[in-house]
Amino acid sequence: MKIAWLVLSLVHLALSKPSCRCLYGEACWPKESDFSDLALQLSQPLLYPKPPGSACYPANNPSGNCSEVMLNALHGRWRSDQPGSMQAPNFETFMFLNGTISACYINATLGFPCTQGSVPEIGVNARTIQDVQATVKFASTHNLRLVVKNTGHDYLGRSTARGGLLLWTHNLKNVSYNPAFVPSGAPPEKNYKVSFLALTVGAGVQWYEAYDAAQAQGRVIVGGAGSTVGAAGGWIMGGGHSPLSGRHGLGVDNIIEFGVVTADGAYRTVNAYKNPDLFWALRGGGGGTYAVVLSATYETHDPVPLTTIIGQANFTSPTIAKSVITEFVRVHPTLADAGWGGYSFLSKESLSFAFVAHNVTVTDASTALEPFLSSARNATGGGPLFQSVTLPYDSFYTFYLETFITDGEVGTNMELGSRLLPHDLSKQNPEKVAEIMLAIPQGVGINFVAGGAVSKVDPETTGLHPDWRKAIALVFFIEGWVDGTPASDIQAARARIRNGLDTLDGLAPGSATYFNEASLYEKNPQKTFFGSHYKKLKDIKDKYDPMGLFIVASGVSSEDWDGSLNCRLN
Ligand SMILES: Cc1cc2nc3c(=O)[nH]c(=O)nc-3n(C[C@H](O)[C@H](O)[C@H](O)COP(=O)(O)OP(=O)(O)OC[C@H]3O[C@@H](n4cnc5c(N)ncnc54)[C@H](O)[C@@H]3O)c2cc1C
Ligand SMILES: *[C@@H]1O[C@H](CO)[C@@H](O)[C@H](O)[C@H]1NC(C)=O
Ligand SMILES: *[C@@H]1O[C@H](CO)[C@@H](O)[C@H](O)[C@H]1NC(C)=O
Ligand SMILES: *[C@@H]1O[C@H](CO)[C@@H](O)[C@H](O)[C@H]1NC(C)=O
Ligand SMILES: *[C@@H]1O[C@H](CO)[C@@H](O)[C@H](O)[C@H]1NC(C)=O
Ligand SMILES: *[C@@H]1O[C@H](CO)[C@@H](O)[C@H](O)[C@H]1NC(C)=O
Ligand SMILES: *[C@@H]1O[C@H](CO)[C@@H](O)[C@H](O)[C@H]1NC(C)=O
Ligand SMILES: *[C@@H]1O[C@H](CO)[C@@H](O)[C@H](O)[C@H]1NC(C)=O
Repeated sequence: MKIAWLVLSLVHLALSKPSCRCLYGEACWPKESDFSDLALQLSQPLLYPKPPGSACYPANNPSGNCSEVMLNALHGRWRSDQPGSMQAPNFETFMFLNGTISACYINATLGFPCTQGSVPEIGVNARTIQDVQATVKFASTHNLRLVVKNTGHDYLGRSTARGGLLLWTHNLKNVSYNPAFVPSGAPPEKNYKVSFLALTVGAGVQWYEAYDAAQAQGRVIVGGAGSTVGAAGGWIMGGGHSPLSGRHGLGVDNIIEFGVVTADGAYRTVNAYKNPDLFWALRGGGGGTYAVVLSATYETHDPVPLTTIIGQANFTSPTIAKSVITEFVRVHPTLADAGWGGYSFLSKESLSFAFVAHNVTVTDASTALEPFLSSARNATGGGPLFQSVTLPYDSFYTFYLETFITDGEVGTNMELGSRLLPHDLSKQNPEKVAEIMLAIPQGVGINFVAGGAVSKVDPETTGLHPDWRKAIALVFFIEGWVDGTPASDIQAARARIRNGLDTLDGLAPGSATYFNEASLYEKNPQKTFFGSHYKKLKDIKDKYDPMGLFIVASGVSSEDWDGSLNCRLN
C-alpha cells in the first residue's frame, strides 16, 4: 500500500514537469558557466541586446551613440540590423499588470528611466546550422523561453519576449540560384516535371536582397512590399503577400523547400516529398511555431513589364465619399480576376490608391480602370479634387527600385486590426463594403494582394487559412501613440482596435484575417487566423514540438499557455 503510494507520487513528480519557463533573473536561469559552455559551441560570441534607446542613457549603455540612434530610428534597414530593436518600438516595451511600463524611450528628456522592457538580455548571433542546433538544445534543456528573431517586423511582437533567450537569424545571409532545382526526395523518374528555376535564401535574407539576387539572374521573385521584411522568416510562414500575388500567388504558393531545425535539434529538409506534413504547416501555420527555418527555396518567374495607376481624391461630403468608395470597391473583383494588385488608403476625407497591372499596357490598364476613374471624376465635381496618373515600368524590379525600395513609416508605436475582404461580398454588395470601411474612424488601408492567382490554389494544399482563397484583399486599420503615453491611454487604443474589429466583422462572417497583419486582441485567434485548418495545424505542432519549445502570441498551441506565454496550462 505504502509502496504503491510512493510509486504513484514519484510518477506524478516525473510527469509534472516544471510548468513555467525559466526567465532571466530567476534562480533557475542558467549559470554563467552554462552560458560559457554554450558559447564554446557557437561560431560567434553571445549577444547582450539592448533597446536602441539605451544609447541615449549613458548609465545604461556607455558605448552607445544617441545621435546615430536618433538619425536612424525611422529606418527599417537600420532597425533590422539591431538585435535589440523591433520595427515598431512598442514591442520593445513591457507593460506590467499594474500598468507600469518598462521601456527605454529614445527621448531621454521625457523623464522615464531606461529599462530592458521585452528585449531579451542574452542572445545567439546565428551563422551556422550548428549555432541554431546548440541554441535549440540549450533552451530546451534549461526550460527557457526561446525567441526566434529575424527583422523584428512582427505586429504581434512575436519576435521578442521579456526574459527569454534570443536566437537572432539576421546574419544567415546566404543566397544561391539554381536553374534546375529538384526538391530533395523527388522521385527521380519525375525530375523533368519537378525542376525549378529556384532561388534559395538564408533565414536572414531580406526582400531587398532577394530582389537584387533574382534580378541578377534575370528572374522575378514573389516578395513583400516591405523591402526590409525577411524573405525566409515570419513573412513566408504566415502566408506572405506581394504586389505580384495576383499574378503568381502568395509566398506560400511559391515555396519549394525549407531547411529547418526542429525542437529536437535535428536538421531536416522539408518539402512535398520529405516531411510533407511539416511543409504543409510551415506554409501558413505561422512563424516561430514549428521549427527554426534556416533556408527557403522559391520558384522564380519570367519578368514582364507592368503598368501602375496611382491617384487621389478628396471628399467634400459623406455622400461623395460613399459614392466614390462604392465604385472603388465595385471595380476590385474584376481587377483581381485579371491578376492586378495594389495598395490604398481611404477615410471619410480622402482616398489614395496605387494599382499594379502586370504584363498589361498603359492603354489596356487605363481602359480597365476607366469605369471607376470616370465615376470618381464625376462624383468629385470633375475638377482638381480627383487626380490620377498612369505609369509604365519595364519590370517589377524597376518598379521596386522607384517606388518601394525603402519601407514606409517604421519606428513608430503601432498596433493593427484587420479582416480579409471576400471576393463575393465585394462583387455582390460593394455599397455595404464601402459603408463598413467608412465606419472605421481611423480610416483603412487595403492591401489588394489576393484574388487572381491566389484564388486558383486549392485551399487544402497549404496550412494557410482557407478563406484567403476566397478573398481579394486585406483591410486593416492602425492605432498609434507617442513614447511616454500612459498605460490607460494605450489600453484605450486597444479598445478602439477591438471596436474596429467588431465593425470589420461585417466584411467577413467567419472573421478571417492575416496572422502577420493583425491584432493581439482577437476574441478567437485560432479561428480567425487559421479557420478550419486549426485542428490539423495543432496535430502537426504536437508531433514536431510536443514540449512546446516554440510558442508565440496567438500562434498554434498558444492556448495551452497562460497570457504571459511562460506557464503551461495543460
Ligand atoms: C513595414 C512593414 C511592411 C510589411 N510588408 C508586408 C508585405 O508586403 N507583405 C506581407 O505579407 N507582410 C508584410 N508585413 C508583415 C510581415 O509579414 C510580418 O511582420 C512578418 O512577421 C515579418 O517576418 P520577419 O521574419 O521579417 O520578422 P520577425 O519579426 O523577425 O519575425 C516574425 C515571426 O516569425 C518568426 N521567425 C522569424 N524568422 C524565423 C525563422 N528563421 N524560423 C522560425 N521562425 C522565424 C519569429 O519568431 C516571429 O514569430 C510588413 C510589416 C512591416 C512592419
Ligand atoms: C555617432 O553617430 C553619428 C551619426 O551617425 C556620427 O556622425 C558620429 O561620428 C558618431 N560618433 C561616434 C563617437 O561614433
Ligand atoms: C508594478 O509592478 C512592477 C513589477 O512587479 C513593480 O516593479 C512596480 O513597482 C509596480 N508599480 C506600481 C506603481 O505598483
Ligand atoms: C523630448 O521630450 C521633451 C519633453 O516632453 C520634448 O519637449 C521634446 O520636444 C522631445 N524631443 C523630441 C526630439 O521629440
Ligand atoms: C553558406 O554558404 C557557404 C558557402 O557555400 C557554406 O559554406 C555555408 O555552410 C552556408 N551557411 C549556411 C548556414 O547554410
Ligand atoms: C504578356 O502578354 C502578352 C500579350 O497579351 C502575351 O503574349 C505574353 O505571353 C505575356 N507574357 C507572359 C510572360 O505572361
Ligand atoms: C455624374 O454625377 C451626377 C451627380 O453628381 C450623377 O447624377 C450622374 O449620374 C453621374 N454620371 C456618371 C456617368 O457617373
Ligand atoms: C487633397 O488634400 C490634401 C490635403 O489637403 C492635399 O495635399 C492634396 O493635394 C489634395 N488632393 C487632391 C487631389 O485634391
